[in-house]
Amino acid sequence: MSQALAEPAESPARIRPAAPVPVDRLVSRIEAVRLIGKNAVAAWGERAYQLPYIYDRNWMQDFLLVNDPDGVKHVLLDNVGNYVKSRQVQRTTGPALGNGLFNADGDSWKFQRRTTAPMFSARRVLDFAEAMAAVAERELSTWHDGMTVDAADRMMRLTYKIITHTMFSDDVQLDYRAVADNFVTYLDTLGRVDMLMMLGVPHWAPTPKRLKAGRAMRFFRREIGALIARRAKEVEQGTAPKDLLTLLLTTRDPEGGALFTLDEVYSNVMTFIFAGHETTANTLAWTLYLLSQFPDVDAKVAAEVRAADGDIARMPYTRQVIEESLRLYPAAPFISRDSVGPDRVGPHDIRGGTSVLISPWLIQRHRKLWREPDYFDPDRFAPANRENIHRFAYIPFGAGPRICIGMGFAMQEALICLSRIVARWRLRMVPGHVVAPLSRLTLRPAFGLQMTAHAREG
Ligand code: HEM
Repeated sequence: MSQALAEPAESPARIRPAAPVPVDRLVSRIEAVRLIGKNAVAAWGERAYQLPYIYDRNWMQDFLLVNDPDGVKHVLLDNVGNYVKSRQVQRTTGPALGNGLFNADGDSWKFQRRTTAPMFSARRVLDFAEAMAAVAERELSTWHDGMTVDAADRMMRLTYKIITHTMFSDDVQLDYRAVADNFVTYLDTLGRVDMLMMLGVPHWAPTPKRLKAGRAMRFFRREIGALIARRAKEVEQGTAPKDLLTLLLTTRDPEGGALFTLDEVYSNVMTFIFAGHETTANTLAWTLYLLSQFPDVDAKVAAEVRAADGDIARMPYTRQVIEESLRLYPAAPFISRDSVGPDRVGPHDIRGGTSVLISPWLIQRHRKLWREPDYFDPDRFAPANRENIHRFAYIPFGAGPRICIGMGFAMQEALICLSRIVARWRLRMVPGHVVAPLSRLTLRPAFGLQMTAHAREG
């Protein structure tokens, strides 16, 4: 296994940020299934943080966990043609995300990726900066000294407003609360069996929950369907605003010139709302939590963002803090694939149909790849240290051709929002509030984040 030990410039503080302690007893398969269903990041034993591979042919579907960066490179890049998105995950997310960019494979994925790529180019993303800052300012204008907030929920609302604003301009008629409740319903019902299904456990969910998830889906079809239909008319009349939705309706395939069908537009709107707000919201929430635990880092970030005066290019340390936050709390903790045909991955000969799991959560806390892996140290990402990090040992946005298309969008958004919060507010955890990572497709604080906002002096 290749080594990618990141040398911290100085010894990190000794507080261990909230994380489950690996299960130290051997559990039966039934018990493992139960634990994974409950919370997939808490289900792993120490082995999964120590070994380069775990291969198990006794599950209903062959299973391979890849923790070796070279193995990750093999699956996500070198032999990418032999791997498709996990069928089980497609089945879980399919009702919500359809066959959009996140779920598609083969030619359909290729067509969608090359057609949407220009919408996320560096130039376009920069065009969104002003809107992101304006939304952040508006949201923060309601804060006052001493107020207690659920920072996780606030960040969810903030990033939801940013994605809907950049996607629909001011045509947003979708109430945040209704959308958030419907997404949470969906994730808590179908989303929670994602890991189980990845291991080949048959597709099932208790019936009342399925019904609730179905209601949530009907809500989206109705509301977002109406919005797209309205916009399609405006495009015809030449009165449509220039935003992501108009781009989805008008951008042609660079090869052949085809437009997306309305169904493909719907799937991608859902994909961008889903992939594009929960993830960044959780990243911001975890970063605020970490800053509350490490006052020195918090002070350094505050000084930097104030001096930078809104210019995110002048916030390299703040960027390091977000990168380290994404290492400890990767918003998408599991990446899964099915092998199409047989392959050799590291020392293992696998069959076609094997469920291959690559986990940012595990690999970014791997005992053989990181020094003091459970500890917070933004200096790992300082220019002098980052070359020690193996490209495929740090994968919060995935890697290879299916790397997150919204990576630039997300990093810019996180920097803009975090810098605006930290410039004015110091957030402290409400004493006694329990912080615990919970995996539901994305990684969120199980009980939210009860925090008190204190105005920063000066
Ligand atoms: C901190 C925030 C984010 C994180 C950690 C994140 C993480 C990821 C990861 C790990 C993947 C790869 C999944 C796989 O290979 O199976 C992915 C794919 C994707 N992400 Fe993100 N993401 C974030 C923000 C965003 C945003 C803001 C958008 C859109 C506005 C977005 C849209 C997508 C899409 C459409 C894909 C599928 C790309 C493809 O398969 O070609 N993500 N993301």
